[in-house]
Amino acid sequence: MSNDELYSPPENLAKKAWIKNMDEYKEMYDRSINDPEGFWAEQAEQFFWYEKWDKVCDHNYNVKNGKIFIEWFKGAKTNITVNCIDRHLKDRGDQTAIIWEGNEPDEDCTLTYKQLHEEVCKFANVLKKHGAKKGDRISIYMPMIPELAIAMLACARIGAVHSIVFGAFSPTSLSDRIVDSSCSLLVTTDGGFRGKKPVPLKENADKAMQMASKQGTDIKQCIVVQRVGDKLETAMQKGRDFWWHDEMKDASPDCEPEKMDAEDPLFILYTSGSTGKPKGAQHNVGGYMMFTALTHKYIFDYQDGDIWWCTADIGWVTGHSYIVYGPLANGATTIMFEGIPTYPDAGRFWAVVDKHKVTQFYTAPTAIRALISHGEDIPAKYDLSTLKVLGSVGEPINPEAWRWYHKHIGRGRCPVVDTWWQTETGGILISPLPGATPCKPGSATFPFFGVVPVVIEAETGKVVEGNDVSGVLALSRPWPGQMRTVFGDHERFEENYFKMYPGYYFTGDGCRRDKDGYYWVTGRVDDVINVSGHRIGTAEVESALVLHEKVAEAAVVGFPHDIKGQGIYAYVTLMDGMEYEDGLKKTLIDFVRNEIGAIAAPDVIHWAPGLPKTRSGKIMRRILRKIAADEGDQLGDTSTLADPSVVDQLKESYRKI
Ligand code: WTA
Repeated sequence: MSNDELYSPPENLAKKAWIKNMDEYKEMYDRSINDPEGFWAEQAEQFFWYEKWDKVCDHNYNVKNGKIFIEWFKGAKTNITVNCIDRHLKDRGDQTAIIWEGNEPDEDCTLTYKQLHEEVCKFANVLKKHGAKKGDRISIYMPMIPELAIAMLACARIGAVHSIVFGAFSPTSLSDRIVDSSCSLLVTTDGGFRGKKPVPLKENADKAMQMASKQGTDIKQCIVVQRVGDKLETAMQKGRDFWWHDEMKDASPDCEPEKMDAEDPLFILYTSGSTGKPKGAQHNVGGYMMFTALTHKYIFDYQDGDIWWCTADIGWVTGHSYIVYGPLANGATTIMFEGIPTYPDAGRFWAVVDKHKVTQFYTAPTAIRALISHGEDIPAKYDLSTLKVLGSVGEPINPEAWRWYHKHIGRGRCPVVDTWWQTETGGILISPLPGATPCKPGSATFPFFGVVPVVIEAETGKVVEGNDVSGVLALSRPWPGQMRTVFGDHERFEENYFKMYPGYYFTGDGCRRDKDGYYWVTGRVDDVINVSGHRIGTAEVESALVLHEKVAEAAVVGFPHDIKGQGIYAYVTLMDGMEYEDGLKKTLIDFVRNEIGAIAAPDVIHWAPGLPKTRSGKIMRRILRKIAADEGDQLGDTSTLADPSVVDQLKESYRKI
């Protein structure tokens, strides 16, 4: 791969872009670093505030100086829904805010800003009627239908904290999140459509509510949207379960927004780490609002009249920040897509771009790779001439996929912005700007305004200066969209992100800064696997496997996968006397699917009567990763193993899988 393969911004785009060249980028970036208070205060003027802040930013980033804290615009009062909806009503009340594209190609609808305002206010009043108030946590477990966006905005309207749980997660995963965030209200649907078959969400929700109840957290009210109708039988528990449409009938379309402090919580979103159960990343109102809006505006060069499409699910952070909050704060028209890229056929994405005249398209490398395998003749059938900017997120994009995306989707006219960020960062931190940055396929290029990446030598913790270096990626100062804490466990927040390298936020990613200063994020350096752009902790999958009565021990690692980026590879040791038979493999895969959700189901189960361990009993994952990647001949030093013959057995059985 040549570092010198450069793609310059197209001239006609650069001319009209918010940031037109590298000089403009550098000038603004330098200002954001040298005068952060002035820079961010100026940016904040673009938003609506009831009252201004006491201080732009206050923080402690160093565990050695006491408790870690991050505050932006503290003392300022606002409501994010006023910024995302009300303030647009005067000039663009009749403009489409949300285009909803259903699972079936002939199914779509739109909501103007006026309509969105009315629906959000009505549902906010429904929530209030059921006793919800500022600070309460509300779980949302829904497919990609407009009511999902309405429900989250309604929470924000009244100051309740939403916790959205991806619709394909299992009842156990939902229950864990309900309990951890002590929710008493749940919004869900009877079911959802993705591809051919309806998925029974309410049935899962019922199981989850039962489990949560056993752990002492009762959902008092469950509001259910009817999406599937007759095709599913939906049990409703009297006094607890209410149909959305019944509740909305008489709800008032006026709802005063709650005045929120910029540092009041907006939402919790659970994400996987290298240890334990997923943790609730907490984002607060003011900084998150500004950061998602500004990154959306500059990184995708969003301009009035553009039609924006981010293909993520709102159950993940990408959907929160770049389907709902960022675009709506910018008064954009944003598309919500219920289906999947291959239904009814592998041309669906391009059919939607063609149909709705999409100008910016944002998706994940895994989707691009899957579509490459169907051939370039498919996109060639569609009119993609409205596209201006293409985006990528979720995992490193391999240069081949980047080039294909650029050539066959962008037709050579559209910059590809490879955006690096995390659930914890709230918004994009490293990315090209489409009118300014010369791109190198596979590199996220340069930091966004106010962001200072550093490369650290993993073992010594020393910051590596200069170019042409590699190490782990950290950030040396806060940005407005940064998560503030792990919900209910501030110590875990400090432990996870700030203890490793005092003075820095540690990302968990490895990276390289090349000779020209371009950043290349190479993937996780911890025990997190990135499957199709979704984060799975190896510890979570291991805990699920050992719940099975026949399993004694499990060790899970990632392995390279052509489409998913990484797949899940599980080494399993059975209880004494159990038979290692093929049929049990499928049982275990299904078992994990039921415990966590389909995204966590292992791709490979490798029977391991013994696991490679050090003399102190620690599993040597390095060796397991090598064997799973078919690099069993490059194991390096195995002399610290308690029983080296275990490795030979695993290598031998690898060949048979
Ligand atoms: C990975 C998704 C390389 C990375 C927004 C990060 C990327 C994790 C990129 C966060 C990219 C995301 N290049 N790696 N452009 N984008 N990642 O929390 O490992 O679901 O730490 O947030 O995805 O995943 P998360």
